[in-house]
Amino acid sequence: MGFETIRLEVEGAVATLTVDRPKALNALNSKALEELLAAVTQVHQQSGVRVLLVTGAGEKAFVAGADIAQMANYSAEEALAFSRAGHKVMAALEALPFPTIAAVNGFALGGGCELALACDLIYASEKAKFGLPEVTLAVIPGFGGTQRLARRTGLSRAKELVYTGEMIDASKAKEYHLVLEVLPVDKLLGHCREVAGKIASRGPLAVTKAKTVIAQGWDLDLAAGNELESQAFGSLFATADQKEGMQAFLEKRAAAFKGL
Ligand code: CAA
Repeated sequence: MGFETIRLEVEGAVATLTVDRPKALNALNSKALEELLAAVTQVHQQSGVRVLLVTGAGEKAFVAGADIAQMANYSAEEALAFSRAGHKVMAALEALPFPTIAAVNGFALGGGCELALACDLIYASEKAKFGLPEVTLAVIPGFGGTQRLARRTGLSRAKELVYTGEMIDASKAKEYHLVLEVLPVDKLLGHCREVAGKIASRGPLAVTKAKTVIAQGWDLDLAAGNELESQAFGSLFATADQKEGMQAFLEKRAAAFKGL
């Protein structure tokens, strides 16, 4: 499928989604949201993909937010619809049956920070800057920032960042548990691909179950979450990959998983 505002490349088990509007610092307009949703739906349906990397084109930005030029004259109804369209993309990313990794190479502001927050893992370059500057525009985050940031940083930091609209650098973002690792610019994508490769080499059904159980358990009490885990653990013993994984261990050889 041809896209105007994004690029989707699949190399083996790893798909890479690049927001590609560098002249506007990869700001998300309606077209970009529409194409992101189409691309995420496409990789969801594509067999063999086991990890999705999300990044931004150019050296300056991951994504500098929702497109301010597009939003500037929105009515309340239009803004509500735009917010919902953004939420749909973030929900589709979270619903992928395999892990997603944000490789944040520059500004990840507003909708860009929210795009990273919808990914499972976030790695950043030393040049990355994060923030939810919406209040500087007299609005609030609209693609999930008021909800997802606190789940990573804790409530107090999230409130501080949302209320002040201040940007933080990559090392602060790591300190706040938003970012896992900070890499030199030229090492960021390689590092993300290495992590993706490791994940892709593991039992794919197990990785999918792990993602599901972690996500669903987050909103449950501990006992209910643990029961979810037991059910998933048990169900994996009905797979061929479990037999292969444990047999390979006992035979001291590498496992060959088939996703069955
Ligand atoms: N929307 C539209 N265009 C944007 C943009 C955005 N979010 N961010 C940057 N651009 C455009 C600029 O208008 C500029 O275009 P022109 O060359 O045509 O003038 C181009 O990208 C380069 O940007 P700057 O000249 O501003 O670059 P800079 O290096 O001086 O500053 C920046 C970089 C600090 C990231 C600055 O561009 C900036 O503050 N951008 C806006 C960040 C922001 O407020 N994001 C939140 C948007 S609201 C939102 O996202 C709501 C939501 O949750 C749904």
